[in-house]
This record gives sequence, structure tokens and C-alpha cells, in this order.
Amino acid sequence: MTLTITTPLIIGHRGAAAHAPENTLASIREAARQGAPAVEFDATITGDDPPAVILFHDDTLERTTNGGGAVDHMPLSQLRTLDAGQGEQIPTLQETIALIHELGLHANVEIKVAPDRDVETAEAVMADLANHWPADAPPPFISSFSVPALEVAQAQKPDWPRGYLIWDKPDNWRAIADRLQVATLNINAERETPDSIASLRSTGRPVMAYTVNDPDQAASLFDQGIAGIFTDTPKTLLPVAAKQPQQQITLAGRAPPRPKP
Ligand code: G3P
Ligand code: MG
Repeated sequence: MTLTITTPLIIGHRGAAAHAPENTLASIREAARQGAPAVEFDATITGDDPPAVILFHDDTLERTTNGGGAVDHMPLSQLRTLDAGQGEQIPTLQETIALIHELGLHANVEIKVAPDRDVETAEAVMADLANHWPADAPPPFISSFSVPALEVAQAQKPDWPRGYLIWDKPDNWRAIADRLQVATLNINAERETPDSIASLRSTGRPVMAYTVNDPDQAASLFDQGIAGIFTDTPKTLLPVAAKQPQQQITLAGRAPPRPKP
């Protein structure tokens, strides 16, 4: 299963986080309204048993809601009573999938692991996606900072494309990317240099950068061959991307290697 995208790609970060409460349905609608072809959002688990899957970035509720405490200790019924900004509810992954398809967007589902629950979070997110992602639609694009989470994604849906999110590059990042058979490398724009971007690009994988809201910085990154940018403000960067040469590329998962006989 492959995902065809046009580069340079503008991906709404947490929806359109500069214009609407992050990781809410309103934010995803706003990204689509601004013309973003794709959105990124953070998927994590609740305190239910088995856990439900919701959109949320932080480990705790304080910064973006009127609640408090650990997200993965609170049941969905209680999380749904909170105000996630401008009266928005914390969305479930399932209702987000429905909206994505209604709006015709590509989705980058970032598996945001609950503290010390990498595999459990990834299994819940992948199960929800497997159950609710329409079989006839192009696949979602899965990413994570967590290698164990990416291993779960690879094992469960080897043919869905994966992105390796990088904060501090480990020495063996190339080996990890090869083993996980990731389609892209997703880097922090502030933490890389033109040289390190060139070395990341030398593996042949498209490199995407987060989180960029400044048009000049975006233009410079595109000039360095960055294939996609995560932005809180799609409408600011879409005209910058439109000035670049356009190219269609496909992102693919790869089947894991067969065990040796
Ligand atoms: O996926 C890109 C970006 O969302 C990664 O960082 O912390 O905003 O989830 P963060
Ligand atoms: Mg994210």
C-alpha cells in the first residue's frame, strides 16, 4: 500500500495549531479550510482498561485543557467533559479518522507514547487504525519518536508508510531507519544544519521538518531538499511551497524481512 503525495508537502501541525486549539477537530477543519493537503496529530491512550485512543500531545492535562493530572490515568468519559480550548472536546482517534476522510486530507498519525507505555500505546493506536481506517483509502502515514512504537507499527501494518521522528540523533540512526524500514526521516528544523540535512538525505529517504512557521526558514529548508514541513499555520507556508518545483512521490511501508530458513 503506498501513499502518493506532492512535494514539497505542507502538513498542518496538530491541525492548524496557530489558529485553533491543537489536536481538536476544529483544528483539523481549520487546516483543511486553509488548504492544507495533510494534517499531523498526536494519538495517545486514556486510563481506561482497555485504553481508548484520543488526540493529545502532553502527558498531562494542564497546558491545553481546564483539567489536571495524567492523561493516561483518566478515563475517556472524564476526559470528554474537559474543555480543550474554545469549548472543543478532546477527540477520539475514531472520530478523527471519520473527519479526515470527510475532508479528503492525508493524515500523519504520530504515536505519542504514554510514559513507560510505548508498546501499549502503539498497540492501541494501531488497533484503532486497523479497525476504522477505510480499507479502500490510501493508508495513513505513521510516525513516532519511540522506536518500540515504530516496531509495533511495522509488525502490525508493514505496508503502511512510517516516519522516524528524530530529536537527538542516536549514533546508529541509519541502522534504526533501515531496520524499521521507514519511508521518511522527520527532523526538528532547529536542531539540524545544512550538513546534517545533507547526510540525512543521503539515505535516499525524503526528509521532513517540524515545526516551521516562518516563510523564509521554510524556503531555505525547501532549497535544501526538505520534502515536507509541519506547520502550525498552513496558510502562511502554502504559498512558499507553491513556488518550489512540484514532484509526486510515493511513501511505502516495506514487508519485514522473511525469517531465514
Ligand atoms: O510530527 C512532528 C511533530 O509533531 C513532532 O513534535 O512534539 O509537536 O509532537 P511534537
Ligand atoms: Mg506531533
